[in-house]
Amino acid sequence: MTRLAHLSDIHLTAPNLEWTRADWFNKRLAAWANLRLLGRAKRFRHSERVIDRLMGELRQRSVEHIVFSGDATALGFASEMRRAAEFLQIAELPGLAVPGNHDYCTIPAARTGDFERVFAPWQQGRRVDGAIYPFAQRVGDAWLVAVNSCTGNRWAWDASGAAGLEQRQRLARLLETLPPGPRILVTHFPVSLASGKKERGYRGLRDLAELVDVAQRGNVTLWLHGHRHRAYYLPQPPHAPFPVVCAGSATQIGAWSYYEYTFKDAALTALRRHYNFDKNVFEDAESFQIQLT
Ligand SMILES: [Fe+2]
Ligand SMILES: [Fe+2]
Repeated sequence: MTRLAHLSDIHLTAPNLEWTRADWFNKRLAAWANLRLLGRAKRFRHSERVIDRLMGELRQRSVEHIVFSGDATALGFASEMRRAAEFLQIAELPGLAVPGNHDYCTIPAARTGDFERVFAPWQQGRRVDGAIYPFAQRVGDAWLVAVNSCTGNRWAWDASGAAGLEQRQRLARLLETLPPGPRILVTHFPVSLASGKKERGYRGLRDLAELVDVAQRGNVTLWLHGHRHRAYYLPQPPHAPFPVVCAGSATQIGAWSYYEYTFKDAALTALRRHYNFDKNVFEDAESFQIQLT
């Protein structure tokens, strides 16, 4: 049996953020207003306590590998990333990480490579042409395949993402050359909303259909993601020929949960563990089975 934990959207921030003058003229100002004026900071005010408990729990339950599907930060500052990486104990525990749209809050934040530098221990794996994305990690019998679905965007209202043509081409080659074993794709952006509908254009994956097509041809049988803060599972989403799991936010008040996956060969059991604030423990929520063939 292999045991994985899938967590996402922890949205940690840090005490001393490195604001620059340019930030008052880009997307970061809107993200800050959302954080400080529109209640986001309130919803995440217990993040550090929850993530601390969560990491203790993962050790107790002998989780072998962690899948983190993005949004480590609130505003995409390097100081927030370093703090998140510390809380996630990335130097001590093995894992896989992809960035979220908040980690690529602005075009410069995406270009600096801060996320990739800070999360390098969770970005080890097989790659194509030396490019950072995609990459694949062997865990038990399966392959976890990380795709970066985020782009630094210019406008405040643009929360969309894309894998891009070149990454999709590399993904096709990577999936073609991986040794046998079930393939599990990991992105930040969803395939479908919990209702089964598509994300709207300014919030969704701009090349969703193309990416699903590459994944299908490469025998992907499960897609894990975050971005949406309430967890859900779609065994037969309308926009993909394989099941999808949204981890939801591990730290947002009320939504706080993560998934534990145990699998052997192609049989996977998923168990959602939900946080109980009063007791400061995670408790079993719903469970379901997925066949990875
Ligand atoms: Fe998020
Ligand atoms: Fe997100």
